[in-house]
Amino acid sequence: MKFERTRVLTGITTTGTPHLGNYVGAIRPTVQASKNAATEGFYFLADYHALIKCDEPARIQRSTLEIAASWIASGLDPEQVTFYRQSDIPEIPELTWFLTCVTGKGLLNRAHAYKAATDKNHASSHDTDADVTAGLFMYPVLMGADILMFKAHQVPVGRDQIQHIEMARDMAASFNHLYGEHFVLPEAVVEESVALLPGLDGRKMSKSYDNTIPLFAPSAQIRKQINAIVTDSRAPGEPKATEGSALFQIYQAFASAEETNQLATAFSQGIPWGDAKQILFERIDREIAPMRATYEDLIQNPSQVETILLAGADKARSQSAAFMGELRHAVGLRPLSAQLTAKQAKAAKTATASFKQYRQKDGQFYFKLVDPQGEILLQSRGFTSPRDAGLAIEQLIENGISAVQAMASQLESIPLTAHSHIASTLILLLESSKK
Ligand code: TRP
Repeated sequence: MKFERTRVLTGITTTGTPHLGNYVGAIRPTVQASKNAATEGFYFLADYHALIKCDEPARIQRSTLEIAASWIASGLDPEQVTFYRQSDIPEIPELTWFLTCVTGKGLLNRAHAYKAATDKNHASSHDTDADVTAGLFMYPVLMGADILMFKAHQVPVGRDQIQHIEMARDMAASFNHLYGEHFVLPEAVVEESVALLPGLDGRKMSKSYDNTIPLFAPSAQIRKQINAIVTDSRAPGEPKATEGSALFQIYQAFASAEETNQLATAFSQGIPWGDAKQILFERIDREIAPMRATYEDLIQNPSQVETILLAGADKARSQSAAFMGELRHAVGLRPLSAQLTAKQAKAAKTATASFKQYRQKDGQFYFKLVDPQGEILLQSRGFTSPRDAGLAIEQLIENGISAVQAMASQLESIPLTAHSHIASTLILLLESSKK
């Protein structure tokens, strides 16, 4: 019995340097969740998304390196999950176009990011779309393609992104309605318990407020920034309130419940702000310092990160290329040889692709899928019984290209470029088997 894991997917836009707020709010919980054996993680660097809001090439490249290095240093295991860069998956922009064609323009008019831009224009009596790129307008479709491509069940996101997941569901449902059940309808997961970290000035830690502490800044810089956290003017010995204290909240995001209680007691007993800051610094440093060496090492060796991301892209593309083949067939972008007139269909009956089963000298049982021209499309490895080989063939006909993926270990490897042809051949075989 094949056990299906819940597929969890999320993307990180590559425009900045990860800070403690990203770590506590996204990186740490995601890395923890990625170790859950009941889930299958897809995590990617959303660099096509970065182009929507950033026109500095060097910054995008640097951010991609820093974010990838941060995730790996924080414990994400690229062997256990699929960790890739969006722009290494050419099927994503292709799917974006397919989805564009089933998405109502009105739906996109209502997207928060676009609406915020046009509302601002109205308020300052500018043209509705002044300074709004089509990229910003289309952003939910690109995001829909990210999610639907990999059949994600769950998408962990911040509250501001929920609408985009709902839009992806709409796109999936429209496409499925028109072309058959191809997409999984995804669900947003908003982690309520995850800490929202205040920044140096007490507002939410965010690049746009310029109040962040970079995750892997040298420890001297982190110490300096912690000393700059805004506090009230209570003197040493005066009891201090934990409520509304940014320092206390940051501590809480790193410390155990017991440590947090101890600091609360120290607050009520009037700990001097300088001492509290020292405690906070030590607690953060205890968690971050062991990861910093890995981070520095990766930053110094970008080619190592590049290799990891390309390996992730290979893994991802073994699915996306095959799936795109299926989708192309579904919408009618098909090899002309697969587009049969009634007359041809009759003639083709004798000339369709077929599975051939045979036994080799090693005593094992094999099969291959051969197209009408005699070209081998799939070649199996050895099965111990003819029955097992037969069952595998049945599954391939029944489930098409997704069965090809599921039994990858029993097949000789297949070039990505052949997936589309295999997908349409298997669909034709299924159709003719039903006649
Ligand atoms: N738009 C997301 C953000 O700004 C990033 C993102 C891009 C994403 N594609 C995604 C998140 C797909 C989840 C799934 O945070």
